[in-house]
Amino acid sequence: MKKRVAVIGAGPSGLAQLRAFQSAAEKGADIPEVVCFEKQEDWGGLWNYTWRTGTDEFGEPVHCSMYRYLWSNGPKEGLEFADYTFEEHFGKPIASYPPRAVLWDYIKGRVEKAGVRDWIRFRNPVRWVEYLEDKGKFRVVANDIKADRDTDELYDYVVCASGHFSTPNVPEFEGFDSFPGRVLHAHDFRDALEFKDQDILIIGTSYSAEDIGSQCWKYGCKSVTISHRTAPIGFDWPDSWSEVPLLERVEGHTAYFKDGSSKKIDAIILCTGYQHYFPFLADNLRLRTANRLATADLYKGVVWAHNPKLLYLGMQDQWFTFNMFDAQAWYARDVIMGRIKVPSEAEMLKDVEARVAAEDAATSDYGPLEYQAEYVKELVAETDYPSFDIDGATEAFKQWKKHKKKGIMTFRDHGYVSPMTGTMAPEHHTKWVDALDDSLESYLQT
Ligand SMILES: Cc1cc2nc3c(=O)[nH]c(=O)nc-3n(C[C@H](O)[C@H](O)[C@H](O)COP(=O)(O)OP(=O)(O)OC[C@H]3O[C@@H](n4cnc5c(N)ncnc54)[C@H](O)[C@@H]3O)c2cc1C
Ligand SMILES: NC(=O)c1ccc[n+]([C@@H]2O[C@H](COP(=O)([O-])OP(=O)(O)OC[C@H]3O[C@@H](n4cnc5c(N)ncnc54)[C@H](OP(=O)(O)O)[C@@H]3O)[C@@H](O)[C@H]2O)c1
Repeated sequence: MKKRVAVIGAGPSGLAQLRAFQSAAEKGADIPEVVCFEKQEDWGGLWNYTWRTGTDEFGEPVHCSMYRYLWSNGPKEGLEFADYTFEEHFGKPIASYPPRAVLWDYIKGRVEKAGVRDWIRFRNPVRWVEYLEDKGKFRVVANDIKADRDTDELYDYVVCASGHFSTPNVPEFEGFDSFPGRVLHAHDFRDALEFKDQDILIIGTSYSAEDIGSQCWKYGCKSVTISHRTAPIGFDWPDSWSEVPLLERVEGHTAYFKDGSSKKIDAIILCTGYQHYFPFLADNLRLRTANRLATADLYKGVVWAHNPKLLYLGMQDQWFTFNMFDAQAWYARDVIMGRIKVPSEAEMLKDVEARVAAEDAATSDYGPLEYQAEYVKELVAETDYPSFDIDGATEAFKQWKKHKKKGIMTFRDHGYVSPMTGTMAPEHHTKWVDALDDSLESYLQT
C-alpha cells in the first residue's frame, strides 16, 4: 500500500510540497499518493486576488489579504525558485519589484510545468484533522463545497500549508462603534482609490502599514497618519505624512493619541497583523506561535515535535519566502519518504529552544535577515533542492533595506542581481510612483 499524504493549501508553500514530490518522481523515486486540499477555486494562495471581502459566495471566510496595485515589497531576487528562474518563466530578465499579477503568473508557471494540478481538490476546505493513535494515521475531513458533501479519509502524513496572513488581528479602540467613517483591517483593504482625498489613520508600523499608506498616498489620499504602539517607523515620509503615538480614542471624526495630540480623520485602517489560526486541527496538533522567525514546537521549523507525521510549511515570519518554502517542502518530503530520520521528541524540542535563543540573540541591523538566511542554507544542504547563492539573495535584501531608508517611495525603482542566473535586473520602464497600471502586460513591456 502506498503511503498517503494530505497537503492543506495550494499557496506557494503547498505548491512547493507538490513540486518537491513531483521532482523526486521525475528522478525515478516511488513517491506516496499526494492529495492537496485547497479551499479556493484556484491555486496561488494569497497571490490569487479577489475583490471579495468577508465571506465568499459559499459563505467561507475570504483568504485573500492582497489588494489592487500591490507590488512586491521585497526584491524578487530574494524569493526566486532555484529550480525555475524568472528568466526561464518570462523568457527575459525582468525588473526587481513585480506587481502581484506578475508573481502569481510566475508561481503558476512552475507547477503548470510540473503537471501537478490534478493532485489538488479545489473548493475543498479541510474541516477537521485528528490523529488516531490506534491506527497510527490521521483522519482528515474535508468539505467538497460545490457538492456540499464531506469526505472522511485516513492519511499517513499531513502537511499543513494553510498560511498565516489571512485571519486578521483586530484590536478595538474607544469610540470605534460610533466613528462616522470606515474602520477596516488591512485584510479587507482592496483599492486605494476608495481613500482618495481622505485623511487616513493607520494603526501599526510594519509592512502593511507602510505599504497601504504608500498606496493611498500614490492614489491621491489627502494625508496619512501612522499610529505606533512600540516605535515610529522613521522613514523620510512625504510632507502629508505624520507619525504619532498609539491611538487612545476617537470622538466623532477626531482621533486622540497617547501624547495628547489629535487629528481629524476620515477612515481608519488597522494594519495590526494576523493570527496563526487553525480551527481545523485537533488541540494536540495545533501550532500556537507568535509571528517570528523561530516558531514554537517545530523541529527545523517544519516538523511538529509532538508528532513528526505532521509537518508545517511557511509558518515563520518571512524575509525569504518562496525559496524558503521550497527548502522546507523538500525537507518535509524527505522526512515523509524516510530519507531523513528525525530524533526523539525531547531532542526536537531542544532544537526548537536553540533556534528561539539564536533568533533572540540576532539583534543587529541585519541579524534577523542573516538568521533566516542561515536557516535556509541549513535546510537546502540537507536535501537535493538545487543549491543557490543564498548570500547573494541576502545581499539583495541588504541593498533593499538601504534603498528603503534612502527613499521609501523610490526603493522599487532599483534592481538587483539574480542569485540563480547572475543576471542584473533591468530598470523598470516607469518609476513606481508614476506606474498606476499594475497589470502583467504593462509590467512586461520593455
Ligand atoms: C498583503 C500581503 C502581501 C505580501 N507580499 C509579499 C511580497 O511582496 N513578497 C513575498 O515574498 N511575500 C509576500 N507576502 C507573504 C506571503 O505570506 C507569501 O508570499 C506566501 O503567499 C505564503 O504562502 P503560503 O502558501 O504559506 O500561504 P498562503 O499564500 O496564505 O496560502 C495558503 C493556502 O491555503 C489555503 N487554505 C487555508 N486554509 C485551508 C483549509 N482549511 N483547507 C484548504 N485550504 C486552505 C488558502 O486558501 C491558500 O490558498 C505577503 C503577504 C501579505 C498578507
Ligand atoms: N506589498 C507587499 O508586498 C506587502 C504589503 C503588506 C504586507 N505584506 C506582508 O504581509 C505580512 C504581514 O505584515 P503586517 O504588517 O500585516 O503584519 P506584522 O508584520 O505582523 O505587523 C503587525 C503590526 O501591528 C502592530 N500591532 C499589533 N497589535 C496591535 C495593537 N493592539 N495596537 C497597535 N498596534 C498593534 C504591531 O506593532 P508592534 O510592533 O507594537 O508589535 C506591528 O507593527 C508580512 O509578511 C509583509 O511582508 C507585504
